[in-house]
Amino acid sequence: MVTDPDGVDPGLVPKRTLYTGAQMPAIGLGTFGSDHVSAEQIAEAVKGAVRVGYRHLDCASVYGNEDRIGEALRELFAAGLRRQDLWVVSKLWNDKHAEADVIPSCRKSLADLRLDYLDMYMVHWPFPNFHPPGCSVESRSLDARPYIHENFIKTWRQMERLMDLGLVRHIGTSNMTIPKLKLLLRDARIKPAINEMELHPHFQQPELFEFVRANGIEPVGYSPVGSPARPERDRTPEDTVDIEDPVIVAIAQRLGVHPAVVCVKWAVQRGQTPIPLSTNRPHYLANLKCTVSDPLTAADMQAIAGIDRNCRLIKGQVFLWRENQTWEDLWDLEGEIRA
Ligand SMILES: NC(=O)c1ccc[n+]([C@@H]2O[C@H](COP(=O)([O-])OP(=O)(O)OC[C@H]3O[C@@H](n4cnc5c(N)ncnc54)[C@H](OP(=O)(O)O)[C@@H]3O)[C@@H](O)[C@H]2O)c1
Repeated sequence: MVTDPDGVDPGLVPKRTLYTGAQMPAIGLGTFGSDHVSAEQIAEAVKGAVRVGYRHLDCASVYGNEDRIGEALRELFAAGLRRQDLWVVSKLWNDKHAEADVIPSCRKSLADLRLDYLDMYMVHWPFPNFHPPGCSVESRSLDARPYIHENFIKTWRQMERLMDLGLVRHIGTSNMTIPKLKLLLRDARIKPAINEMELHPHFQQPELFEFVRANGIEPVGYSPVGSPARPERDRTPEDTVDIEDPVIVAIAQRLGVHPAVVCVKWAVQRGQTPIPLSTNRPHYLANLKCTVSDPLTAADMQAIAGIDRNCRLIKGQVFLWRENQTWEDLWDLEGEIRA
C-alpha cells in the first residue's frame, strides 16, 4: 500500500509495546462522528488517514458507522493494505453486557468492519446502562444499575472467550476507575492490555494514568484535543477549552501549528496514545506529522503539566442509576465504588 507523497511512513510513527509484546501505533484516528459528522464523512476520513500513514483506528458499534468503515477498509485492502499492518479497535456497547450478547456483538462488529479478527476489543463503559443516541443528559434508563462487579466479571469472562476463540487479539477497558480496575485485575484470567480514558492537557488524570502504567496497561487517551465540537448537551459552564489555553497557544505559535496539534504532540510524548478525530485532511495529517517531528522541550512539557484543570468533559450523566445523583458518582472520586 503506497502512502501519499506528503504522508508519514507508518514505520516511523512511535509505537507502544503492550504486555503481550504486540506493537500498537501510538496515535490512532477517532471515529465518533456524534451528531455532526456523518458515517460517510468518517469513512472518507478513514481512507484518507490510512493513505497518509495512520495504522490505528478507534471504532465502536455505538458510533453507528462500522459498516461504512468496513467498506472503506475493503477498498484499502484491495489497494494493497495488509491486514497485519493495521490496528483496529472496537467496543462492546452498554446494552450488550449480558453473557449471551458479548460474542454475537463482537461478531457483528467484525462482520460490519469486514474483518476476521480485531486487534483490540474493549468494554466501552463499566455500566450496562443504555440510553438512546442523542438523548438529553437528564434522561435516565429505568433499568440503569451501578457498577456490580459480579456482573462485570461475567461480561469479562466472555471477553476472555473472544480471545480464546481467536476473534480478538487483545481485550481492554474504557472509562474505568482505580477501584474498579483493582477488582478486575484481581479476578481476570486475562488482564486488560489497554484502558481508554479521557486525557487532554486540562484533564491529565495523573493518578489513573500512573496506576494503569504501573500495572502494565497502556493508557489510550480520548478527546485529546478537548473535543471542541462536542454537542451542546455535553457542555457545562465550568468546562474549559484546551486549545485556547495560553500555554498551548504560545507553544503552537512558536511551532507554527494549530493548538490542537500541540495537544496531540504532548499526549504522545507524555506516554499515552491519543485518538484524535478529524475529517479534515490537513488536520489529521498535521496530527500524525507532529509525532515524528522534533519533540517538545522539557520546559514545554513542564509548562503543560502545570495547566491541568481536572476538567472532565465527557461526564457520563446518562449512565446514572438513581435520581438526585451527580455525574461525579460515576467516577469513584473518594476511592470507593458507588453503589
Ligand atoms: N471510550 C470512550 O468512551 C470515548 C469517548 C469519547 C471519545 N472517544 C474516541 O475518541 C475520539 C476523539 O475524541 P473526540 O472526538 O471527542 O474529540 P477530539 O479528538 O479531542 O476533538 C475532535 C475535534 O477536534 C478537531 N481537530 C482535531 N485535530 C485538529 C487539528 N489538527 N486542527 C484543528 N482542529 C482539529 C476536529 O475538527 P476537524 O474534523 O475539523 O479537524 C474535531 O472537531 C472519538 O472520535 C472516539 O473515537 C472514546
